[in-house]
Amino acid sequence: MAATRIADLLKSGQPGDSTTIQGWVRTKRAQKTLCFINVNDGSCMSGVQIVAESDMAGYDNVISQIATGASVEIQGTVVESPAKGQRIEVKAEQIRVFGGADESYPLQKKRHSFEFLRTLGHLRSRTNTLGAVFRVRNAAAQAVHEFFRDRGFLWVHTPILTASDCEGAGEMFTVTSLNLNQPPLTKGNGVDVEQDFFGKSAYLTVSGQLEAEIMAMAFTNVYTFGPTFRAENSNTSRHLAEFWMIEPEMAFCDLMGNADLAEDFLKYIFKAVLDACEDDMAFFNQRIDDSVLATADNIINNEFARITYTEAVELLLKTDKKFEFPVEWGIDLQSEHERYLAEDLFKKPVIVTDYPAAIKAFYMRLNDDQKTVAAMDVLAPKVGEIIGGSQREERLDILETRIDEAGLPRDAYWWYLDLRRYGTVPHAGFGLGFERLVQFMTGMGNIRDVIPFPRTPDNIEF
Ligand code: 4AD
Ligand code: MG
Repeated sequence: MAATRIADLLKSGQPGDSTTIQGWVRTKRAQKTLCFINVNDGSCMSGVQIVAESDMAGYDNVISQIATGASVEIQGTVVESPAKGQRIEVKAEQIRVFGGADESYPLQKKRHSFEFLRTLGHLRSRTNTLGAVFRVRNAAAQAVHEFFRDRGFLWVHTPILTASDCEGAGEMFTVTSLNLNQPPLTKGNGVDVEQDFFGKSAYLTVSGQLEAEIMAMAFTNVYTFGPTFRAENSNTSRHLAEFWMIEPEMAFCDLMGNADLAEDFLKYIFKAVLDACEDDMAFFNQRIDDSVLATADNIINNEFARITYTEAVELLLKTDKKFEFPVEWGIDLQSEHERYLAEDLFKKPVIVTDYPAAIKAFYMRLNDDQKTVAAMDVLAPKVGEIIGGSQREERLDILETRIDEAGLPRDAYWWYLDLRRYGTVPHAGFGLGFERLVQFMTGMGNIRDVIPFPRTPDNIEF
C-alpha cells in the first residue's frame, strides 16, 4: 500500500481507517508500556503523533532503534486523539526503521539559532521553521505561474550564460571552462583552464530582462522565473550572489500599467500563500514576527502608496528622523530611506517612480524633463526594495545616446537596438526578487534562511 502523506492524513483521516505513513522522527517519548513518537514527512508543520504500545510485535527492539532523526514507516489505525490540539493520532501496529540516528544527530529537540542551522545546510530543512519557509516558497512559486497563466502571459526561458550586462553595473561573474580531457592550458597552480567560453567572454546573467524584451516583442506578454547572479560583495541580510527573479515584460504597456500589474501580482501571491499555507503562516506570526498576518491582510486589502522619487526626497527631507546617509535630490535611496517610507511613514508598500536618470540603468525610458526616467521600485516594510522595474526606452536614437552615456559598447547591444528598428512599441516590465518576497511574507530576518542553499560571499559549500 502506498504511504499516505501526513498532511492528507491529518486533514481527512477518520478514526478506524488503516493507514501507512513514512517520515522522520522528530521526538520520541517512551513510557513503561507505551511510546509516543512524532513523525514528519515535510508535508505539514505539526507531523503526526504515533502511539506504540508494548504489546506490539517486536516492541522493545523497534523502540530501541527509534530516535530523533531516524527514518520510519508506520502501519496502524487512525484513532481519535485525547491530546489537546490534535484531532487524530495513529495507533501503531507495525513499525519499520529504515535508518537509525544516534545522539550525534545535531537537531535534537531544542531551539537552534538560524546561524547554527546554516552550518547544517544538509539537515536544516527538517526543522519546523525551515520546513515552513520552503513550503511557503513552493506555494508562492506555484502562485506565480498561476497568476501569469490566468492572464495569458507566456513563460519564457532566458539563458543563464550571457554575453551582455543587463544592468550595466559591471557586477557579473565570469564563466571559465575547465576540460580535463583536452590538452592543458595550464595556469600557475597546475589546474588546466581555458579562459573563457570557447574563445568568447561569457557571464552569469544578472537579469533575463533583455531577452524577455525580445520575447515580448513577439508574444506581447511574457515572464521569466529563474536564477540570476550578482557579483556584488554584499554581506547583508537582503543580498545573495545567486537569487531567483520573476520578470514580466509587456508590450503596449506604460509605467502605470506596470505598477498596476506589480500591485495585483503581490496581492495575488499573498492571498494564494495564505490559502495554501495557513498553518505555516500562523507559525511565522507566532514564532518569527507577530506582524506577519497583519501585513498580509494589509497587502491584500489596501492600495499601495504611489509617489515620485522627487516627492520621496521631499518627504525624507521633511522628517526629523536622522539618516546615516544624507538625503538630497539625486542620491540613490538607501535601505534606511526605503524602510522609513514603507515602514514608518506609509506603513504599507510604496511604489516610487521617476528616478534620476543618472542613477538608473541605460534601458529606462527618459522622461520629458530629460532628468528622470520612467523607473519604479516597490518598497516593502522591513525588506525595502522588493521590485525594480521601468518602462523601457523604445526610441532608437535616445537609446543609442543612453548606451553611449553609460559607457557601454553599442556593438554588444546590436540586437537590442534592432528591436527599436523593427516594430518598436512602448513596453514595460519589472523584476521581483523571489527571496525578498519570501522574506516579506514570512518575516524571516535573513535572506540566507529563505533559500535552501544560499550563495553568498561567505558560503558556496551548501
Ligand atoms: O532592481 P534590479 O537590479 O532590476 C533588474 O534586474 C531589472 N532588470 C528587472 C526588470 O526590470 N526586469 O533587481 C530586481 C529585484 C530587486 O528589486 C530585488 O528584489 C532583487 O531583484 N535583487 C536581489 N535579491 C537578492 N539578492 C540580490 N543581490 C539582489 N539584487 C536584486
Ligand atoms: Mg533595483
